[in-house]
Amino acid sequence: MKTPKIAKTRAELKAAIAEANPGSLGFVPTMGALHSGHGSLFKAAREENEVVVISVFVNELQFNDATDYANYPRQLEADVQLAAEAGVDIVFAPEAEEIYHAGLPLVRLNSGALGDMYEGASRPGHFDGMLAVVAKLLHLADPRQGQYRAYFGQKDAQQLALIRRMVADLDYPVQLRSVPIVRSEKGLALSSRNALLSEEEKEAALVLHRSIQLIAGRAARNEPLYVEDAIGMCQMAPLVELDYFVVVNPDTLQELAFNCQDTPFTGEGLILVAAKVGKVRLIDNQPI
Ligand code: PAJ
Repeated sequence: MKTPKIAKTRAELKAAIAEANPGSLGFVPTMGALHSGHGSLFKAAREENEVVVISVFVNELQFNDATDYANYPRQLEADVQLAAEAGVDIVFAPEAEEIYHAGLPLVRLNSGALGDMYEGASRPGHFDGMLAVVAKLLHLADPRQGQYRAYFGQKDAQQLALIRRMVADLDYPVQLRSVPIVRSEKGLALSSRNALLSEEEKEAALVLHRSIQLIAGRAARNEPLYVEDAIGMCQMAPLVELDYFVVVNPDTLQELAFNCQDTPFTGEGLILVAAKVGKVRLIDNQPI
């Protein structure tokens, strides 16, 4: 197993990429506390690129809650180990001053209406902050020759939709790839935040996937969805405080009109759910 090269600065990252001189580069941005969900992105990148670069950076700008930022798990050594096992070539692990070297950005990206819904409604400023760092990271890892691909998880469906729009709207010269959600054996979507759940809370959190499955099953059978059944399931579950459970258009994330109505489901949709379990906010989703 090869140890990845660690780049702490933008200059070191640039030099490492130049030295590798790849015909194709796959880039996977992360906030660390890596698990096999991230691992599947690394694997996808490994399969189709000569060089795989990941970043590990807890981006303060996308946290609207200082405690959440302070409590976010940080474990670079273990992360490098997981990256090594996945065959990652370069780990970019900068300090905040390296990324925000000119101070916090004065010129900001605005995630617009798509950034104000769902996660954006509960976490004001989150998506603007996320785009600010992804925009920068996509520049920093750009090999400027050959194929350039970046990998994101479907786990964060709204984030993915926004990054797609940013890349299209601002003509970023990168191909985006999305990777399906990786779950625990019992169905909990893997997340760095799961480390903050007690065993009891982890058990309680399974209702998110169960309620999604209930609706996804009805969709697969072209039955009426009766989304309120899933909402009820989540509301009844102990330790779970439901934020939203909606069925939306996968591109615009607008709620589907026939969402809760008594008509057979046809076409395509995306189930989105978010809830607090104990103190931890969790999200999950599934295309239908
Ligand atoms: P982070 O939460 O570390 O996630 C990094 C990438 O891993 C994201 O694209 C996310 O969707 C994906 N991912 C996380 N859990 C997954 C799972 N269970 N299955 C599949 N993919 C999963 O998302 C961020 O970091 C940040 O917002 C970032 C894009 C790095 C910008 O700061």
